[in-house]
Amino acid sequence: LSNRDGIQDIKPTGKNPSDRALGVVAEIMRRRFFPAHITHKAWEGFHFAGHEIRITEATDCYGAVVWPSALVLCYFLETNSKQYNLVDKNVIEIGAGTGLVSIVASLLGALVTATDLPELLGNLQHNVLQNTKLKCKNQPHVKELSWGIDLEKNFPRSSCHFDYIMAADVVYHHPFLDELLLTFDHLCKNDTVILWAMRFRLDKENQFVGRFQTLFDLEVISNFPSLNITLYKAMRKGRMKARPSKLTV
Ligand SMILES: C[S@@+](CC[C@H](N)C(=O)[O-])C[C@H]1O[C@@H](n2cnc3c(N)ncnc32)[C@H](O)[C@@H]1O
Repeated sequence: LSNRDGIQDIKPTGKNPSDRALGVVAEIMRRRFFPAHITHKAWEGFHFAGHEIRITEATDCYGAVVWPSALVLCYFLETNSKQYNLVDKNVIEIGAGTGLVSIVASLLGALVTATDLPELLGNLQHNVLQNTKLKCKNQPHVKELSWGIDLEKNFPRSSCHFDYIMAADVVYHHPFLDELLLTFDHLCKNDTVILWAMRFRLDKENQFVGRFQTLFDLEVISNFPSLNITLYKAMRKGRMKARPSKLTV
């Protein structure tokens, strides 16, 4: 991450919120490790949910590497597994990329559907299988979901119910922001909780948050200015209860 995103390993110090956020960022980044020797396949390792997770990366598209937002969301899921108990919960991840969030949610007991564009599914399936086989209560599924396309056909409203929709770094410079909003809208029932880690980059994409709020109530769970990442919880308008008192970032 330090090369790709200018993230330094900052030690947790001090009591004010920004120092604490830096401390958590350092803790999150310590979950990542690299192969000791160069191998023919590029991979990265992560420690989450009591497991060593190995993610094979490709280099040719956005979904082929693990993005920092995914680490933020994984860390949140692991450290808040009491308040957000995922055991036997139906979870869908959109824009899953290499699959880290889906893998961690599965290791925490959820019944996960990891989705992305068709060209990403081979590597996604490989990572999901390699890291969850015989380790999870519920074996995860990998399925195509191109935002806005064939939603009712592939995810019929009458039979699909998700307790959680998870998304890490799905808003950036791409032409499918309308379709992304449509997808959230299609998948989200009245009791569905959206956990969304948003990396802020350019203003145009950031306006998406405002559009998102026309359909959903949004609550900031945690904020990491050094990463330009905010972790949000969202629900359909009027469905959000008061914030639980003891959330850890
Ligand atoms: C920046 S990557 C984030 C990947 C992963 N969530 C992470 O944080 O490591 C964005 C992801 O959105 C997916 N994506 C982009 N446009 C999409 C679309 N129209 N339909 C479905 N997925 C899309 C990409 O394939 C990619 O996996």
